[in-house]
Amino acid sequence: MQLNQYITKFKQHPTPFYFYDLDLMRRTFDAAAQAIVQIPSGHIHYALKANDHPAILQEVRRRGFGIDAVSGGEVQLAIQTGIPGNKILFAGVGKTDKEIETALEADILCFNAESVPEIEVINDIAARMGKTARIALRINPNIDAHTHKNITTGLDENKFGISLEDMLPTIHLVNHLPHVVYQGLHFHIGSQLLDFMPFKELSLKINEIQQALESENIQTPSIDVGGGLGVDYADPLHNEIPDFAGYIKIFKDNLQLRPQQSFHCELGRSLSAQYAAVISRVVFIKHGAHKQFAILDAGFTDLIRPALYQASHKIVNLTSQMPEERYDIVGPICESTDVFAQDYPLPKSSRGDLVALLSAGAYGHVMASTYNARPLIPQITSDEI
Ligand code: LLP
Repeated sequence: MQLNQYITKFKQHPTPFYFYDLDLMRRTFDAAAQAIVQIPSGHIHYALKANDHPAILQEVRRRGFGIDAVSGGEVQLAIQTGIPGNKILFAGVGKTDKEIETALEADILCFNAESVPEIEVINDIAARMGKTARIALRINPNIDAHTHKNITTGLDENKFGISLEDMLPTIHLVNHLPHVVYQGLHFHIGSQLLDFMPFKELSLKINEIQQALESENIQTPSIDVGGGLGVDYADPLHNEIPDFAGYIKIFKDNLQLRPQQSFHCELGRSLSAQYAAVISRVVFIKHGAHKQFAILDAGFTDLIRPALYQASHKIVNLTSQMPEERYDIVGPICESTDVFAQDYPLPKSSRGDLVALLSAGAYGHVMASTYNARPLIPQITSDEI
């Protein structure tokens, strides 16, 4: 992403804030749009949970992408953005009655359902509203995504999805209930995958599942493989755009889609991470007994990924050209987990220097909090600054 050309403007701004490079955002969406055409019946649904910035949602709408929503609030946000209901999927293990009503009112494409009680409730509410709900079953394929344990979702031990064992009886139940119809199968094995082998494994598992269902005379209109395409957190300035083409190709080459069957994927991180940074200032350089600390004005209230998932974000000092030294780069919050990086090389830094935390677009601002009575920080785009 472009940062150097904005440094003069950053200097005039109070920090911290999120900065979005909209040119890179558009190039990221270009790459995704070009990749999905490999699968003629393919649809990208942006996983809105990753980032709900209006510029991104407008880009999703302009491109004709759909939305993967995980709450009634996200369904409403998508509708308010002008994204048609028939492009919205609604997932989540704990959909409330109110959220189900919101989604039915919006005539969404499909509920990604995760349990029998949920399907029964959707059927009841749809009956009361005089509607029929399309249902895809989220199946837990028991595939190890080899990613961080907090973002692995496709194993038996995770709370998500319906087990392979329960799949057939659950499809029979959907076919039996009058106000729901069987629309398809949904999977999501985990997030931040850079090795595509688990996606191949998923494709082969889906092929097996489809054969088994067809032998029971069950046809499946749509296959949704979820999200998970990872981004390069180590070197985002050189690897700005995720490998959408390679990701889609894995499914094109391995997943046996049936004629008329639609293909869906739910990309969140890959469509939002790399074109945003947290811009902050060094408040103090503090010399400890054995190390030095660069204390920033941004903390885990603004970007929680390092504290929550031990995630590493690349950090750059935008204003110092001095030789490198080593720092623990920390926030100001009264918790010892408020650390962005340890023993990290930065040009010799001083109070007032501008420091950028990169790859902050996905699960950044949306996961911010006001802990310590810290206000949510502004989000500024390259068009606005
Ligand atoms: N579909 C489903 C069912 C999901 O649970 C998720 C993400 C996605 C799609 C989007 O996946 P993506 O393309 O972003 O990998 N806050 C964590 C990530 C949590 C992911 C939750 N589910 C982080 O900052 O790493």
